[in-house]
Amino acid sequence: MTAAPFLQRQNKTIVHVVGARPNFMKVAPVMEALQDDARLRQVLVNTGQHYDESMAGSFLKELQLPTPDYDLGVGSASHAVQTAKVMMAFEEVCVAERPDLVLVVGDVNSTMAATLVAAKLVIPVAHLEAGLRSRDKYMPEEVNRIVTDRLADLLLTPSPDADANLRAEGTADERIHFVGNVMIDTLRRHLPIATLDRVRGRIPVGDRPYAVLTLHRPSNVDDRHTLGNILAALRHVSARMPVVFPVHPRTRNRLREFELEDALAGTILTEPLGYIDFLALTSHASLILTDSGGLQEESTALGIPCLTLRENTERPVTVTDGTNRVVGTRAEDIIAGVEEAFDSTAPRRIPALWDGHAASRVAAVLTGFLFG
Ligand code: UD1
Repeated sequence: MTAAPFLQRQNKTIVHVVGARPNFMKVAPVMEALQDDARLRQVLVNTGQHYDESMAGSFLKELQLPTPDYDLGVGSASHAVQTAKVMMAFEEVCVAERPDLVLVVGDVNSTMAATLVAAKLVIPVAHLEAGLRSRDKYMPEEVNRIVTDRLADLLLTPSPDADANLRAEGTADERIHFVGNVMIDTLRRHLPIATLDRVRGRIPVGDRPYAVLTLHRPSNVDDRHTLGNILAALRHVSARMPVVFPVHPRTRNRLREFELEDALAGTILTEPLGYIDFLALTSHASLILTDSGGLQEESTALGIPCLTLRENTERPVTVTDGTNRVVGTRAEDIIAGVEEAFDSTAPRRIPALWDGHAASRVAAVLTGFLFG
């Protein structure tokens, strides 16, 4: 009667939100870093924005995340419908759980949707991977980043450029916490088991140097002309070394719709790979071509040359400190970028706090906020 209410007040609930492929590797090390704190109850919510085993389920298992406490099952839809479905279902979770903090990661629709819900219920939000800006509002992720950062109480940033962006937008210093890149925690942890033997049986790369390509941005794959340009450059790279291309479902659909599948003759195509298999493939590659944000960071951490097939990046530290070059989507620029990547001897650094210990810094900020 005397002690119980006091103890109850000491226990706090944190709700972690995952939904799309790039979320799982960010939340896994944070949940682990918090798991021994007896004052905390952790609740995992999977929105189901991605639902294929190869896009979501395999990541939950391989990264040893707990079984989600809630599966919202929203699936694919237009941006408004997908966002609205997450909001409706996540509001019920928040009402049932009354969390003391909601942690959202990255820049997908689920990130913004969960943030909006929590903010309206006056539940504090922590945004992991805050402050990144491409300054390109045609990117749906840029809209998600801006809205999420505007509303979140704790802004956990991966690089000093993110802090500068937030300050330039008028964000108070006390909301900004430079914690480093939590995705690199996950990468470092799994690198020793990401041997090429895992994938060699399925992906015929042999012992030769090879390149890896990923493409999924709507601006690249939903436009026939842009996609055709990229595939034209691909023929040049393939003449130099084999190119392995794990094909995202969005891209697979567009290749079929635009009848561009023949342009991939000579490319080694695979289904999307699980986290460890993909790390095995990329960590042994000689060159990475991508429009993914996460892969720009992973290639920098791995020291592997990366060409970003976009006009901009929200991750400039991968260019200033890392191995990344933003080459755009014109075939001749991509081809020139490939030649330069092989010729380059520029010194490469790992960005500050991409050291495999970001999750413990995140945990310290979150528990400091919750328990003072
Ligand atoms: C989403 C994120 C993007 C992230 C990417 C990683 C937003 C706005 N976009 O883009 O930031 O980089 O995930 O993959 O949140 N599909 C399947 N199975 C799945 C998921 C999708 O077949 O499990 C197909 C569907 O046809 C769907 C299409 O892929 O319509 C696109 O999926 P969607 O989640 O809308 O966007 P992504 O392009 O994956």
